[in-house]
Amino acid sequence: MIIVLLWILLLLLSIGVAVFVCLRHWLQNKKKKLHESTSDNRVYVGIFHPYCNSGGGGERVLWCAVRALQEKYPNAKMVIYTGDIDASPNSILEKAKNVFNIALDSDNVEFVFLKQRNWIESKTYPHFTLLGQSLGSMVLGLEALCKFPPDIFIDTMGYAFTFPLFRYLVQAKIGAYVHYPVISTDMLRRVQSRQLAHNNKKYVARNPFLTWAKLAYYRLFSKMYRWMGRCADTIMVNSTWTENHILQLWDVPFKTHRVYPPCEVSHLKNLQHSEKNDEVIILSVGQFRPEKDHPLQLQAMYELRTLLAQEESLWNKIRLVIVGSCRNKDDYDRLKNMEDLSKHLSLENCVQFHVNVSYDDLLRLFQSAHIGIHTMWNEHFGIGIVECMAAGLIMVAHRSGGPLLDIIETSEGSQNGFLATDAVEYAENILNIILDSFDTNRIRNAARSSVERFSEQEFEKGFLRATSTLFTDA
Ligand SMILES: *[C@@H]1O[C@H](CO)[C@@H](O)[C@H](O)[C@H]1NC(C)=O
Ligand SMILES: *[C@@H]1O[C@H](CO)[C@@H](O)[C@H](O)[C@H]1NC(C)=O
Repeated sequence: MIIVLLWILLLLLSIGVAVFVCLRHWLQNKKKKLHESTSDNRVYVGIFHPYCNSGGGGERVLWCAVRALQEKYPNAKMVIYTGDIDASPNSILEKAKNVFNIALDSDNVEFVFLKQRNWIESKTYPHFTLLGQSLGSMVLGLEALCKFPPDIFIDTMGYAFTFPLFRYLVQAKIGAYVHYPVISTDMLRRVQSRQLAHNNKKYVARNPFLTWAKLAYYRLFSKMYRWMGRCADTIMVNSTWTENHILQLWDVPFKTHRVYPPCEVSHLKNLQHSEKNDEVIILSVGQFRPEKDHPLQLQAMYELRTLLAQEESLWNKIRLVIVGSCRNKDDYDRLKNMEDLSKHLSLENCVQFHVNVSYDDLLRLFQSAHIGIHTMWNEHFGIGIVECMAAGLIMVAHRSGGPLLDIIETSEGSQNGFLATDAVEYAENILNIILDSFDTNRIRNAARSSVERFSEQEFEKGFLRATSTLFTDA
């Protein structure tokens, strides 16, 4: 019996090896032909971005990167692997121009349309989503590779399981831009402590055996993810938070570079400020989601009133303006609760709620506001904070996550904002800003110039620096 099993195993193994060798031979031939068909020494750069027509933040990264590579390497041809089979190349490029104002040289960009995108959609995998999507990305990656074997492969959507294919089948150099680790130590910890979460259902958390099995699955998956990730020659991460996780998971610090994604804030930096003397506006911008912690903002106002008990005229000038969008009934319920809480704290005269404001109205608020407030705990980055700073507001943000690690600097000399943890600390900081105990004008200028770190130019510089090793030996 055992002998038979062993034979079957051996047979399967040899079939696998044979398929690998044949596929590799075929692909390398194909790649050679590709190079022979062009006379000059072209470099083919394949960029894996199956959702390239979405128009989100990840796509801004993609198009900025493509533009930077086009300018730096005129002999390189950009090949974009996308699953947007219903869009034409021209319409995709036009969208990049209209949405992000990024104009690309269309002669130098080619699209390879992939038909197997359903393999990476989470709805394909009701169970074992993580593993399913990752193995699915290998199927999609294989389709991409067979349609076009590149010299350099850059993944901008975080599909690490595609790296070994391109590396071992066609010896491509591999680059990765990681927005978010697929698995994180936080996820492991949540399962371990048997907490409920969207990816840890009740029947798992309740059952010690299932918890054990799930932990084993996550550990095995992390091992695989680590092996895949380490196939990359250069790794870019979008923030300190992601950097810390990727360092922990992949542990190749000398290949890992922090390259902040481009934020478009130049129009905010040019905004003229027109604060009025008879009011001090504190602006809060964010959706009405629970993690934004709007109640803390109301509590800070409550504490601020206590601090200003002797100075009623000053207190009467202060307004907290909370701007946010409501997506569904839960958001509207939260808004209602917030209004009730402000009444309960007798703050209704100095707190205003603005739902779904237009962008022009938001710009007007940016111009008239003095201070920005942010209260979310452990936000991974905080683009809203960067926008407020660019618009010239003095920020008081939560002392955790992105604001602490990436955005706000509080040491003397280079201070560009304030950090706080509890309501009293928020109130004290706000009071100090209002009384101008610090040189607030200097802080405002420092804030406005510090957001340059998140500009398109800085992104392009960082991206080209990190990817230069891919081109030197390609
Ligand atoms: C990095 O990507 C994650 C996931 O998309 C996002 O939540 C985070 O805000 C990004 N960081 C930056 C600096 O944009
Ligand atoms: C606000 O916007 C959301 C989504 O954009 C929409 O569903 C909601 O109905 C809007 N609410 C109001 C009051 O306009």
